[in-house]
Amino acid sequence: MTRYRYYTAASLDGFLADEHDSLAWLFVQEQDDPAHHDTFMTGIGATVMGATTYGWLVDHLADTGEPWPYEIPCFVFTHRTWEPLAESVRFVSGTPGGHRSAIEVAAAGRDVWVVGGGGLAADLADAGMLDEAEVSIAPVTLGSGRPLLPGRFDLRLRAAERNGAFLVATYDVLGRPTTW
Ligand SMILES: NC(=O)c1ccc[n+]([C@@H]2O[C@H](COP(=O)([O-])OP(=O)(O)OC[C@H]3O[C@@H](n4cnc5c(N)ncnc54)[C@H](OP(=O)(O)O)[C@@H]3O)[C@@H](O)[C@H]2O)c1
Repeated sequence: MTRYRYYTAASLDGFLADEHDSLAWLFVQEQDDPAHHDTFMTGIGATVMGATTYGWLVDHLADTGEPWPYEIPCFVFTHRTWEPLAESVRFVSGTPGGHRSAIEVAAAGRDVWVVGGGGLAADLADAGMLDEAEVSIAPVTLGSGRPLLPGRFDLRLRAAERNGAFLVATYDVLGRPTTW
């Protein structure tokens, strides 16, 4: 069964990026398992992301001259009109649940990487489309920025390990709390 996996890095105080969408604080961190991402990707059949994240990637690839990195289908949630960077990129809008079957058909039995941002991840969780969150927590605080998962959610810690400077914490997403 396809699982929706929010796989991301965040600051210790729960931000994906600073208020200018900068990840400079992230790229200076050391990893001792650089293959961690490649290992994760072997189980992934499709990706889902929001427009700000896609825009960041568009700018980053333009700066570096690198090609679009993924052959698997990518669903970008947006109200805007974009030039797709690859044939595998699809632009969608509306509730995540309305795209669930298309996303799962595209994933072809493998899992879905929820890339971010946090608002989209929260909307997916509310639609029952967020099974786990694997967060590489960097040893920095940002004070403000783009939140990891806005709103109140209940999660259960399933695993914790170290990757260089990062604490890699994997949680099952349980949903909205009912007792607190
Ligand atoms: N630390 C990490 O590993 C990591 C991972 C992922 C992202 N990031 C960064 O974190 C930041 C995330 O930014 P963000 O939280 O603002 O979020 P985002 O999810 O990337 O983008 C939010 C935007 O997506 C569009 N959108 C979201 N849901 C939609 C829906 N249901 N229908 C149509 N459009 C929808 C809207 O844009 P429009 O209405 O303008 O189209 C919305 O303003 C970015 O800077 C990104 O680069 C970091």
